[in-house]
Formats: sequence, C-alpha cells, structure tokens
Amino acid sequence: MKPRSKIEFGDFQTPLVLAREVCSFLVRQGIEADTVLEPTCGIGAFLVGAAEAFPQAHLLGWDINQDHVEQARSATRQARAAGRATLGVQDFFAHDWEAELAGISGSLLVLGNPPWVTNATVSAMNGSNLPAKENFQGFRGIEARTGKSNFDISEWMLIRLVRALRGRAATVAMLCKAGTARKLLRFAWQNDGRIASGALYRIDAKKHFGASVDACLLLVRTGEAGPAEAKVFAGLPAKRAETTMGLAGKDLVSDIRTYRRLKHLEGLCPYQWRSGVKHDCAPVMELRPGNGAALQNKLGEQVLIEPDHLFPLLKCSDLANGRLDPERWVIVTQRKVGDNTGTIARTAPRTWDYLNTHRKHFAARKSSIYKGRGPFALFGIGEYAFAPWKVAVSGLHRNPRFVLIGPVNGKPVFFDDTCYFLPFEDEAEARVVGEILNSAECKAFLDALTFTGAKRPITVDLLQRLSVRALAEDAGLANVWIAARERGLPYAAQAAPIQSEFAMEQPSSRPR
Ligand SMILES: C[S@@+](CC[C@H](N)C(=O)[O-])C[C@H]1O[C@@H](n2cnc3c(N)ncnc32)[C@H](O)[C@@H]1O
Repeated sequence: MKPRSKIEFGDFQTPLVLAREVCSFLVRQGIEADTVLEPTCGIGAFLVGAAEAFPQAHLLGWDINQDHVEQARSATRQARAAGRATLGVQDFFAHDWEAELAGISGSLLVLGNPPWVTNATVSAMNGSNLPAKENFQGFRGIEARTGKSNFDISEWMLIRLVRALRGRAATVAMLCKAGTARKLLRFAWQNDGRIASGALYRIDAKKHFGASVDACLLLVRTGEAGPAEAKVFAGLPAKRAETTMGLAGKDLVSDIRTYRRLKHLEGLCPYQWRSGVKHDCAPVMELRPGNGAALQNKLGEQVLIEPDHLFPLLKCSDLANGRLDPERWVIVTQRKVGDNTGTIARTAPRTWDYLNTHRKHFAARKSSIYKGRGPFALFGIGEYAFAPWKVAVSGLHRNPRFVLIGPVNGKPVFFDDTCYFLPFEDEAEARVVGEILNSAECKAFLDALTFTGAKRPITVDLLQRLSVRALAEDAGLANVWIAARERGLPYAAQAAPIQSEFAMEQPSSRPR
C-alpha cells in the first residue's frame, strides 16, 4: 500500500533512465528548446534529462512538494550554478499559467509527468489536491466533467496547459495514461485548442512505474490548428506508426483510415441492443451447482428454491472465451422494471424467504437507481430479456465475438450487465444476424472505432451505430437476412419496419 500522500498527489517519480530516453528522443525528433518547463517536476528526473539534452535551455521546475523541490534543486546543482535553472514550490492549481507563459520567449518545451490520480480518489480520501470548483467556470468541456463524474488530475492539468498555450507555438511532451492523452486531444480538437500535430508513443508503465496501465508519451505541437489526427507508435524507437487515431464527428476513433474506408457500415441499427440484467447483488443472486439438488450462493450457503425465478446466466468472460454452457443461474425477480416483487411470496415462497433472509445485501446496494424501488428490484429487464434466442457480446473485450445463444432446458439464457445482446424469437434470424456481426468487415470497423485499454470498449451506443443492412450487403447475406427478418416476429417488431428503415438510410456512399 502506498502512503496516503503519495496516492493523493499521484506521486510516481519518473526513473532517470526513462527521462533521459525521452529527452534524447525529443532531440532526435528535432525539437528545440530555449526554455524547458516542468510543471510538476518532482525530484527532477526530467530536469536532469533536459539539462543534458538541451544544454542551452533555461530550465523551470515547479512542484507542490517542498522535499521534492529540494531534491530536484540538488539534482540540478550544475545548471543552477550556471544560472540556467529556476526551481520552486508551486501549486499547479493556484499558478497563473497565462502570466508565466507570456513571460517566456523563444522556443518552449513543456515536459514532464503530471500526477497519476483521479479526482474521485482524491475526494474519497478527503484530500485537497483538486482544482477549485470556480476555476472550471468558462472552461468548456471540462466543466461538464466535474461534479459527480470522474476525471484524471493529469487530464485537467494538460487541458489547463494547452488552454494557456493557445495560439503560442510550443512542444508539449508528457508521460500520461493513453486515455488521458486521448481526452486531451479530443478536448483540444473540439475546442480550438490549436494543436498543430499530435502523436502517442507507448511506454511500458509496468517496467518503469510498476503500474499496469496503458501509458504513453504524448507529444503535441501547439500554435495553429492542424488535422484532428494523431499517429500512435508502439514505442519511442518505433519508426512507423501502428495507426492514426482521429476525430470522426464528435467521437474519437482509433484508426481513422480504416474508419473512413468502412464508414458506410455506420447507420441506423434496425434492432435495439440491450444490456444484460443488473442487480448489484451477485453474492445472493448468482448461484452455482451445490450439494445434491441444492445450489450454492457466493456466500457459500446451500440454496434450495423453486425453479420459477432461476435462469441460466452467462458473463462477459464466458462470451469472450466461448464457454457457452451456462454454469451459473441468476434469480430473476421481475419481468419488467418496476414490477411488484411481492407476488413472489405467493408464487414461489421458498424464493421469497431466501430473498428476505438476505435483505440487508439488497439494502446495501450503493447505486442510486435502486432508491425508491421495491425490494429486490432489477434493471436491464423487460420482455426482451426472456426472448429465447439472443446474439450476445461482451462489453469488456475489445475484439468482439458475437455469440448465438439459444434456450437451455427450455429457459432463456440471461447475461450480466457487462454484456450486450439482441433478442430474437426466431433462431434463423438470430443466426444470420450473428453471422453478419461476426463478418471480417464488422470486426475491422469495430476495431477502428475502439481503443486498446479502454475499460468498456463495446457499448450500446457503439453497437447501435452498426448498420446491419450495410454489413449484410458486404457479407453477401442481405437476401438471407431480409427473408429471415420478414417473418416479422415479436422482438424484431420492436424495431423499425424494413421499408422505413431502408428509406431513412442514405444511399450507400461506399466506393465501388
Ligand atoms: C507522477 S509524479 C512525477 C514527477 C515528475 N514530473 C517526474 O516525472 O518524475 C507527479 C508529481 O506531481 C506533483 N504534484 C501533485 N499535485 C501537484 C500540484 N497540485 N501542484 C504541483 N505539483 C503537484 C507531485 O508532488 C509529484 O512530484
């Protein structure tokens, strides 16, 4: 466990060897610096690296931690003796960055590694290392992310710096999470942040920081607005980019070239994607085989209840790994959101007793969605959840595998809330839709839209953007799909009728 203040201040000092590697890389990239500014310099690894790599540059280093600044002072003794380094204690959030940057002339390199911590972690610790709320005023984009939502402190700092730099030519080279780099770029591209060019170079965070995160060196040139694209390299030595990410409409895509090639696959999905069932009470609600006829809950208790409310359950790892014979059951207390669960007392008294015995687990559910709901309430539930046939996918795995799932012993299979699915009455229709979604083009398109390391790469919003019609055409399955769909069974009927869906879509703009 890290000491408290280390966590609150996101204090992961960069090893000198990495700081040196980054600095010599910047020199090889042709970056010049009359001034190097390290806004959260810590014990000074980057200042030392910069003093060696940019021997003419003036160094400016600030940090909130007095002890760190003392160490950084001693590490940069020579540069200070030569009158080319100024270090001091500064709180980033209280600093007047516009004034400081206005006072710097010549070429500027903003270099470093801002704190690795989120506002939620700092708040949960009752910590104070947060931007003052009023500082958000007029800070478009980031303001919307304050309050309840979670953001990385480094994201806030990087946006603050790019905002202060706006209109001024400079290089920003910062170690950060890849997700933070992407958010900074999106913010700048959408808010006239004047990014002339941007690139991400992956860094092995496990090796250098002992942290299992997707990290990178973000390299950005500011001053004038360039294309909303950034090359992504496997590492500092890589000569060729792996991909080029970019902004497509309001969304970031991981591979803008492939996205443009397959853009015709984006459109109205004629079906409604659904999330799996949400109960936030796995210890009580999810059961595995127990002794004899009994099931066993996650508390280790043997559970003997009526079968009425028990349904086979698959989780995202089951879908992703092809483990499609359900080994768990879930207790389903409602057929639709808001149903009165009290009827279970009459229809399945043992189930009712079991649920009531564990009432405290339900009462402890943190999510506010359960407030004011009946006991044992669910979300992600409706008639669609009881459809016999489903095409399901994990939301947590980037390379999606769409799986056709039919009933088990006459019962529809349920999914947990890390999965998404389309419900079908008809096996043939489900089968062809599954085949369409597993086509190479669909996978390539989803790959272009999603990012490695994202917590939930696949979402309902993303799936809803897939035009099944265009995918079916590309896969040569359009006729089969239309024939299956025209059987007009209940779950398909929730969606737009075929004619109007076709009428709503633009003619395909795909190059032929
Ligand atoms: C991830 S460490 C990196 C330190 C240094 N940049 C390096 O690369 O080794 C983050 C640094 O941010 C400093 N820090 C955290 N909050 C700060 C704040 N509000 N103002 C200035 N520095 C801060 C910490 O003291 C810590 O030294």
